Parts: sequence; structure tokens; C-alpha cells
Amino acid sequence: MDAVDGLAPARARLLAAGSVCVLTGSGISVESGLPTFRGAGGLWRTHRVEELASPEGFARDPRLVWTWYDERRAVHDRAKPNAGHLALAKLERRVADFTLATQNVDSLHLRAGSQNVLELHGHLREARCDRCGARRPLEGPFPLDEIEHACGGRFRPDIVWFGEGLPAALWSAAIEAVARADVVIAVGTSGVVQPAASLFTHLVGSQTFTIEVNPETSALSPHADIVLYGTAASVLPRLVETERGKDG
Ligand code: APR
Repeated sequence: MDAVDGLAPARARLLAAGSVCVLTGSGISVESGLPTFRGAGGLWRTHRVEELASPEGFARDPRLVWTWYDERRAVHDRAKPNAGHLALAKLERRVADFTLATQNVDSLHLRAGSQNVLELHGHLREARCDRCGARRPLEGPFPLDEIEHACGGRFRPDIVWFGEGLPAALWSAAIEAVARADVVIAVGTSGVVQPAASLFTHLVGSQTFTIEVNPETSALSPHADIVLYGTAASVLPRLVETERGKDG
């Protein structure tokens, strides 16, 4: 198993932490077989983001948007949490005050057993009426002849689209979590989408120790006290180990 620079001091900081907040992005789900957005093969490399993940795109062609999200959800449902997701669920069971703020909508953190999960960009377990807020569970493809709601609104994926604000309660909880955390860990995010990235770059507490897990340098890397260059499934299990592993 290849050594990862910085693993021992990062692990020591984590062992001493009473409060931890983790921010994840699509990279943590790569080893579950899900694509990222901006990397090679990423969704935004092959799809028209403004037509699929924006209120304007939905207003223009709701059937296209539902078809795309149904395809993504079917892929999510076939995927399984990987060792990275499971390591974070294990960490949560050990730390007194733990918050997981994710940009992902694939529900893999919940399926891995994580409890205190803030799904900042929404999820694909429900549809929501864009006028009255009525919700209905998403099981199988959304019936395209039922998009129109009796109230005059339309059922849409419960996702935060470009140009939309994050759910206020979730955002407040995330800000409070990073402000009080002894350690904040960013995993698998390029750090280019706001306001989520600001949790790691501007809103983190001045005494907080910051760790990034990513095989590549990201926009967050300059803000990290330690960057662990490696994948989520290979690094996170070693990071959350409680006894000294082979890496020392
Ligand atoms: N383990 C950890 N990180 C990985 C792995 C891996 N196996 N593979 C790739 N990565 C990293 C990449 O190096 C990159 O930094 O994951 C990151 C993915 O970045 P993006 O594709 O930009 O995805 P993300 O940061 O989650 O995007 C944020 O943008 O489109 C919106 O709402 C969407 O939530 C998404 C947000």
C-alpha cells in the first residue's frame, strides 16, 4: 500500500478532535462508479448544464430534465457506498460532534450509515412542487404525464440548481459546524462551486485544522493545512484508523 505524505499528523489531529466537519463532493463517489462533474468523463463535459440543472432549463423542457435526473438516479441506485463513505460513517460514530455536509445528491452517505448529513445541493429521493412545495417520493422514473400539479405548479427534482439558494436551515447548520470544528476535512471536491467551497476557505474557524483528500490539487488545496493526495476509498479508511497503521 503506497504511503501518503501527511497521513500520520492528520490522523493524530483527528484522534484529538472533539468536533469534526466533513465537506464532500462527487469525487468521493467515483470509486462507487459515479462520474464527477468536471473531471475526465465528468457530467458537465458531456451534458448541457444550463439546460439540465437550472430553473430556466426546467421551465423550457421539464420532460428532458426529468429524463436526465431519472437516468442519474437509476445509476445512483445501482451504486454502492465505497470504503470512503463507510470510513466517514465510522468516524461519525467515534466523534462526539460530527457533521457531514455533502454537495452530492446520490444518497450514498446515508446508505453508508452516516446520520448527521447536510445535503446542501438536495437529493433525488423526492420530487417537489415548485409552487406549493408538495412532495412525492421518487420510486422509479417520474411519470412524465404527472409533472403538472393540481395547484398550477410543476413537480421538479428536489435539487438545488445553478442560480438557486441553498436550503437556509442546512446552510446555517453547515456554517455553525465548520465554525466550531477542531478539524474540517474536504473530500473529493474541486472547490469551484459556491457557497459550499467557502465552508472550507472562508468560514472555517481560525483555530481549525484543515485536511483535504483528493488525488489532485483543487481550489481548496491552498487552504488546507495538510493535503492527502489520494483517492477517498484508499485514504479515508487509513485516516480514520484509531491505532497506528502501517503508515506510522
Ligand atoms: N477520490 C477523491 N476525490 C476524487 C476522486 C477520488 N477517487 N476522483 C476524483 N476526485 C476529485 C477530483 O480531483 C475533483 O477535484 O473530485 C473532484 C470532483 O470535482 P467536481 O467534478 O467539480 O465535483 P464537485 O466538486 O462535487 O462539484 C460541486 O458542482 O455541478 C455542481 O452541484 C454540482 O455538487 C456539484 C458541485
